[in-house]
Amino acid sequence: MNQYKQRFFIPKGIYLLNHSVGCLPKRTALEKERFFDLWKLQGGEAWDQWLSLINEFCHSLSTLLHGNPDEFCPQTNVSSAVCKILHSLPHRKNRSKLILSEADFPSIGFALSQMERMGYQIEFLPTKDGNFSLERWKQHLTKDTQLVFMTHITYGNSFLNPVTEIIKYAKEQGVITVVDIAQSAGLVPINVRVWNADFVVGSSIKWLCGGPGAAFLWVNSESLFNFEPIDVGWFSHENPFEFDIYNFQYAKNAKRFWGGTPSVLPFVIAQVSIDEINSIGVDKIQVHNQILTELFIHAVCAKKLTVSTPLEPSQRGGTVAIQFSHPQKVYERFKQENIFIDMRPSFGLRFSPHIYNDEQEIEKVIALMQAGD
Ligand SMILES: Cc1ncc(COP(=O)(O)O)c(C=O)c1O
Repeated sequence: MNQYKQRFFIPKGIYLLNHSVGCLPKRTALEKERFFDLWKLQGGEAWDQWLSLINEFCHSLSTLLHGNPDEFCPQTNVSSAVCKILHSLPHRKNRSKLILSEADFPSIGFALSQMERMGYQIEFLPTKDGNFSLERWKQHLTKDTQLVFMTHITYGNSFLNPVTEIIKYAKEQGVITVVDIAQSAGLVPINVRVWNADFVVGSSIKWLCGGPGAAFLWVNSESLFNFEPIDVGWFSHENPFEFDIYNFQYAKNAKRFWGGTPSVLPFVIAQVSIDEINSIGVDKIQVHNQILTELFIHAVCAKKLTVSTPLEPSQRGGTVAIQFSHPQKVYERFKQENIFIDMRPSFGLRFSPHIYNDEQEIEKVIALMQAGD
């Protein structure tokens, strides 16, 4: 029996929806009471301690991703983090291009496209074969580029972009860099210091098992003072308790990207989950995931099914996306068997094993796949 199964609440069946929502750790379910206890006992005087709990969230992220806790700012979701970055960009003459790829999550395209009314041109790297080499990125990273948005692991076919190299090249061209780690945080070891991008954005809901509402923005302290967000509130102020309506001073750390009164509970929940993932070890989670995804890859090749995910493990994230001739029919069959997966247009059915899945489960799922479906 996989020793990690008992540390999570796992819906009955075989749970492979970790690219969407990771399972709730048992200790997270217990610890959320900390938030309510403070509220019950202290009412409005709970704020100091609620804010320390949010601070703990930033500390847990810094253990996970290696940045300084002050470089993290809590956000509601990735899209809002991206909007805050976009509306903080410095004016730079002759830099009017924003680059992203067609494989990014659609929300990102929606957010970047709003910048057209500000005079920016949006340039999408075309998906073609779902594979983005460094050379392809380089062709777009010209000196007139203001910002490049890259997804570490894409949501559809789980392609792992060479972000270290893209960031290095982009910086040589003076391009502002943003990396989306929604599909890699908690799955792949990440060191934001080594990447040295300007921004990293992500959320806790997927591989971090931290639930919705606890996203984050990391800003490099070396670039921080170049960015002045438009979307602010009193928690973006250097001293939120100054209460001088005529005097706004940006916080001298990532909190300038915060806003008004923050939510607390999602961060309390996510912090405990991130600690749970830290205690298991992201290296271990990645190795385990690769063993299980490799089983899928072998099986789909043997059954002559089409896989959208890269076959090469070093180019692959945590999901295997498989194409079927009748995806809806196959999806319904899996659903009847209590196998939790989902379906995305152009990519197929998505299967994402976490640390609490085991080989027997994967073998069972593979046995249900039939060539020619
Ligand atoms: C790579 C990636 N980025 C972003 C998101 C979602 O962003 P948001 O938190 O704004 O919903 C997803 C959701 O699946 C994703 O896979």
